[in-house]
Amino acid sequence: MTYENILTAIDGHVATIQLNRPKVLNALNQRTMEEIAAALDAFEADAKVRVVILTGDERAFAAGADINEFAGKTAVEMLEGYRFAQWERIRKFPKPIIAAVSGFCLGGGCELAMTCDIILATETARFGQPEINLGIMPGAGGTQRLPRLVGKGRAMEMILTGRHLSATEAVAWGLANRVVPAASLMDEARNLAAEIAAKAPVAVRLAKEAVLKSMDTTIELGADHERRLFYLLFATEDRREGVQAFLEKRKPNFQGW
Ligand code: COA
Repeated sequence: MTYENILTAIDGHVATIQLNRPKVLNALNQRTMEEIAAALDAFEADAKVRVVILTGDERAFAAGADINEFAGKTAVEMLEGYRFAQWERIRKFPKPIIAAVSGFCLGGGCELAMTCDIILATETARFGQPEINLGIMPGAGGTQRLPRLVGKGRAMEMILTGRHLSATEAVAWGLANRVVPAASLMDEARNLAAEIAAKAPVAVRLAKEAVLKSMDTTIELGADHERRLFYLLFATEDRREGVQAFLEKRKPNFQGW
């Protein structure tokens, strides 16, 4: 697929997707969602890629769904033609995704960031679910993910008033991991990605799966699931290498199997 609305790059084990519709603050139209999903499919198939960074530009990570695109749509057109299949593909991506957020991170943009695994934010980042101001509501998981991250009352406040959170508030509320200086956002994201990429890839993948499972099941079922993944890792060469390296007081050299 040739990309029109995103830029992609691979550097070592780290792939980057940059949203690239600056004139509309990286609004997420259908084509953009298809491109993100296609890029992730390619990164999933590429064993060299171990971590993905998703970012926008200085002014906006993404200012939400593309309002021009859905402005004239009927309910049935939304139901039959819309892009939630792409969101499912992003949700199921098995490798870690770091969202590097600067500027507006609103509506579908905030939902996209929440679909990622770790969120780094600059001081200019603004998080919000402003759909209520358009007479609608979040439709890409916002009402489900936000309360799990910030709690019910805070999610209600954001979703019912459309209020934007500053980066510091987003960190205090548990939505973003930390605030980083604007000038070093991508360096911080790359360093974090490289740190994760140096771990055993299968362990990283299964640990991500187990943490995500905790979001939608009971502790008992989640812990059973975790235990099976934990046992599975004892079948990997990287587990043998990791333990051996510890015993030999050296750095492990993980291969990904
Ligand atoms: N969809 C389509 N276009 C969008 C957009 C979106 N979600 N968000 C911003 N844009 C466009 C604007 O229409 C404008 O285009 P124009 O220059 O052709 O008029 C351009 O991006 C710049 O936005 P602008 O509103 O001029 O910038 P601002 O700094 O004054 O305000 C926002 C920034 C993010 C506060 C404002 O653009 C906004 O409220 N956007 C919508 C956010 C939203 O409701 N998202 C959820 C959608 S369901």
